[in-house]
Amino acid sequence: MARGTTIIHDRPTSKRVGALRALGPFLRPYRLQVVLALIALAATSAISLVLPLAARRVVDNFDDGAGLLDEYFGAALLIVAALALGTAARYYFVTRLGERVVADIRKAVFARVVTLSPGFFERVMTGEILSRITTDTTLIQSVIGSSLSIALRNMIILAGGLGMLAFTSLKLMGLVLLIIPVILVPIIVLGRRLRGLSRANQDWIAASSGAASETLLAAQTVQAYTHEGRSIARFDDVTERSFGVALTRIRTRAVMTAIVIFLIFAGVIGVLWIGARDVQTGVMTAGQLVQFVIYAILVASSTGALSEIWGELQRAAGATERLGELLAAEDALTDPARPLPLPRPVRGHIALEGVSFRYPTRPDVSALEGVGLTIRPGETVALVGPSGAGKTTVIQLIQRFWDPAAGRVTLDGIDLRDMARADFRQAMALVPQDPVIFATTALENIRLGRPDAPASEVETAARAAHAHDFITALPQGYDTPLGERGVMLSGGQRQRIAIARAILRDAPVLLLDEATSALDAESESLVQAAVNRLSEGRTTVVVAHRLATVKKADRIVVFDGGRIVAQGTHDALVAEGGLYARLARMQFTDMPVLPEPA
Ligand SMILES: Nc1ncnc2c1ncn2[C@@H]1O[C@H](COP(=O)(O)OP(=O)(O)OP(=O)(O)O)[C@@H](O)[C@H]1O
Ligand SMILES: [Mg+2]
Repeated sequence: MARGTTIIHDRPTSKRVGALRALGPFLRPYRLQVVLALIALAATSAISLVLPLAARRVVDNFDDGAGLLDEYFGAALLIVAALALGTAARYYFVTRLGERVVADIRKAVFARVVTLSPGFFERVMTGEILSRITTDTTLIQSVIGSSLSIALRNMIILAGGLGMLAFTSLKLMGLVLLIIPVILVPIIVLGRRLRGLSRANQDWIAASSGAASETLLAAQTVQAYTHEGRSIARFDDVTERSFGVALTRIRTRAVMTAIVIFLIFAGVIGVLWIGARDVQTGVMTAGQLVQFVIYAILVASSTGALSEIWGELQRAAGATERLGELLAAEDALTDPARPLPLPRPVRGHIALEGVSFRYPTRPDVSALEGVGLTIRPGETVALVGPSGAGKTTVIQLIQRFWDPAAGRVTLDGIDLRDMARADFRQAMALVPQDPVIFATTALENIRLGRPDAPASEVETAARAAHAHDFITALPQGYDTPLGERGVMLSGGQRQRIAIARAILRDAPVLLLDEATSALDAESESLVQAAVNRLSEGRTTVVVAHRLATVKKADRIVVFDGGRIVAQGTHDALVAEGGLYARLARMQFTDMPVLPEPA
């Protein structure tokens, strides 16, 4: 499984929660919301910190008469109302911020990945990318949308609470300070372990998504070879590993929780004990002790909450890191900083000069070796040769899906690497070897060739590609959804849609890779006639195994093992008696050794 190698397993170990800093650029546009959320956060935390003060007053002034008591309770009611409002405001701003930022991250990741050249997709499984866009962003959402604000609030309460503790009783506060480091040590030690585990967990989830999507996309092939059992076993295995890692994480977290809770409450009990003795001996009032205890509980519970949240933050840090990797994915192919414009009108002069190329996943095999090929404007050139000879590779290089290792590819005299890919690809129309149909209507599928084309032109293109008849026979004609990957169409019908698309594009350069290979003889000759008409006045590169379809080309270029072994017209090549003559002899069975009469 060559594509099973992923970006996830060859990475250095994860960094700290600081990885969350990468979210900064996504938060920046929403500064105002961040500020509002922080204000609400600070306000509610402050109110929480004031409440114990009120409690002490009530306790210490219990005997002072009804008037004062009523006032205290009235004030408490107001404080509680403010707390309620503040909390609602915090929830609103913070949650909204989380949703907003994650929507932006999803968009950014998709926009980045969709532009990457084929080299990237040979390394990473698409299912894995999808998992990153969904599960990893969900983690980040929970962090920005709640964990982060809970963490901040608890930090404020912790700091404020400690301050108020000191204000209430320095002696008891000193005790608390002794206890806190004892609580923090297990949090830090176990937290480090948690972070690695949570990242591994997400990685396995991504891997299992990758495995699942690959199998589901090929469900029929899997079933035809009764491979379901193995596919299920493979998915089970990956999923179980993910569970295994999750289990270790949960165990670690459970142990951590037990230790932290015990330490916190043991500390509180100890402090209380000493405080109670102080009240007995009159060193402090009952109200002071009540106040102290409430602060101590606030401090303790915020420490506990922080330890919980810390794990969340670490999980999100891992997720941020992975998404950051996608966002920062280096593309081997880039547009130049200052691209040269392709001069219009485009003439369509294509040249490959001393081009050698190896696919990065197969560096030992030369896909093309020293290929020199010039295609003049308006010329129709056919590429023929045995399977694996390098024909599709030539077509891909002409569109700059890969860069040659040596030599250069030019269009109208300009190196493709000096232009923006979107610019010169606009001048090209491609019918690929395995045409792709999208899950939209027939109309929209053809319109991919030129998104602003009116319906009438779409129909003209469909007629030329002999697709009109079968499209109108579909339940809703041109508005029929063609199903995911065009499952509703036959192979030949898919090809005709792809040809209609290319016809509609009306580009100066036409690239046809086995464009009519799935058609029956009659449709093929009809479509071929349309393609011939289309190729008039355009530079056309045709790849075909059936030599009957390329006989009329201006020039035939024969490839073998990544090299050009011969070129010329059909007749000249047959007369030459090389590889082409051999292929021709096999295909035109009634033809003897001699070239057929012109
Ligand atoms: N994406 C890829 N990664 C690695 N190797 C590849 C890739 N695509 C093609 N190859 C290899 O490069 C060589 C040329 O392939 P290419 O697709 O250009 O052949 P072709 O002439 O179009 O064959 P066919 O007639 O079967 O379509 C082959 O050896 C093939 O195995
Ligand atoms: Mg091919």
